[in-house]
Amino acid sequence: MKHTDIKEIFADKELVGQEVTVCGWVRTSRNSKNVAFIELNDGTTLKNIQLVVDKAADPDYKDIPRVGTSLKAQGKLVEARNNSVEIALEPKDITVLGECPQDYPLQKKGHTLEFLRTMPHLRGRTNTFNAVMRVRSVLAEAIHQYYQDRNYVYVNTPLITGSDCEGAGEMFGVTTIGFSQDYKSEEDYYANDFFGRRAGLSVSGQLEGEVAAMAMGKIYTFGPSFRAENSNTPKHLAEFWHVEPEIAFAELPDIIEIAEDMVKTVIRTVLDKCPDEMAFFDKHFENGLIARLEELISHDFGTVTYTEAIKLLQESGEKFVYPVEWGCDLQTEHERYISEKVFKKAVFVTDYPKEIKSFYMKQNPDGKTVAAVDLLVPGVGEIIGGSEREADYNKLIAAMEERGMNLDLYSDYLDLRKFGSVPHGGFGLGFERLIMYVTGVQNIRDVILYPRTVGSIR
Ligand code: 4AD
Repeated sequence: MKHTDIKEIFADKELVGQEVTVCGWVRTSRNSKNVAFIELNDGTTLKNIQLVVDKAADPDYKDIPRVGTSLKAQGKLVEARNNSVEIALEPKDITVLGECPQDYPLQKKGHTLEFLRTMPHLRGRTNTFNAVMRVRSVLAEAIHQYYQDRNYVYVNTPLITGSDCEGAGEMFGVTTIGFSQDYKSEEDYYANDFFGRRAGLSVSGQLEGEVAAMAMGKIYTFGPSFRAENSNTPKHLAEFWHVEPEIAFAELPDIIEIAEDMVKTVIRTVLDKCPDEMAFFDKHFENGLIARLEELISHDFGTVTYTEAIKLLQESGEKFVYPVEWGCDLQTEHERYISEKVFKKAVFVTDYPKEIKSFYMKQNPDGKTVAAVDLLVPGVGEIIGGSEREADYNKLIAAMEERGMNLDLYSDYLDLRKFGSVPHGGFGLGFERLIMYVTGVQNIRDVILYPRTVGSIR
């Protein structure tokens, strides 16, 4: 169906005076005695084009279309008389593509995000989701561009895996066998299953990412990861999109530098490419959002060790729900205190106790901590988790044995430390968490088309 995107019409003032065809869904419509005004949106921009229908001149004109009706309109573009609308179309011909009956749930504006979550198939037609999805798309492209410009190879790691990367038992199982009492044991069950052994959905592409980095030097993945953790919070999804660069010949300070540069670069791109959407979020979601992001990208991020962070929390005089002591996992309330109250900006926390981090992290000489790093940002908490990896074969085996891991499942991974091992590392960026931070939207369910969370799938 040949037509002009509404975004193009607003971008190219030269089109005023010309004949065009536009398509879209009716956002609002109103009648006056001689004229009908229809605001049409085609999803390419937050802006609506106004159709100004001269009722007297159109003998076929019956009634104004209901909100949600899809239309094709052809006519001349004119400067709009109404101040809030820049360009209007005087249609010669309007074709209704699809009627929209009265029970269309988005007849009125101003629904809550909670209400909109009950209709994931329709909420994309609201300005909020239109803006979120556009920022999401621009951010994704910016991330690819960042790595492509710097000699990284984009690799696709498997989603079905036989080994658990993070080792926290948060994997969804993958099986083709339904409920059955035919098997003598769990082992017998898995032996008869599709892969002949236990398999699950990957929590991270890192282990295979390391395999690729040991061949191609610098790689990144950008795909879904799955976590079966029972965390019903505004920042946890069971299926989230994960950006995982892995870099050979790199130590922890290199990893931190790359993470900071990448975050700043992609935020700059969104500010430049999505001015309307960012203005919308600034107005409706977080007053001062654009200024906060400009501030973020023009200053160095903070850095603090875990041990110093614990001290800061203990000396804060704050009453936290979760007690703070060396060795504890930092909870969102702690992360937010550090980034929002102490540093008032994004901050890297490094060198965590080895007991609360994964087996693959490089062991520090103190014997107590590992070369891990998390990036905490105001309003959200952790958006990045990464580390330098343990490159020493024997030390890695010792860490795995301490955790009671089955070394046979990781023989490929261990081989990387046998055949030309090098210092290397990387990190994982939670894509939805970055979108939350950039848009000021506070619930992760509202930055993905179909959120998957505990007890909820649609
Ligand atoms: O800190 P995580 O668990 O680290 C890893 O998976 C490493 N293998 C990454 C690496 O070094 N290549 O997860 C990384 C990031 C978190 O900082 C968070 O932003 C996001 O992934 N994330 C989630 N996002 C949404 N919902 C969840 N359930 C998430 N779990 C982690």
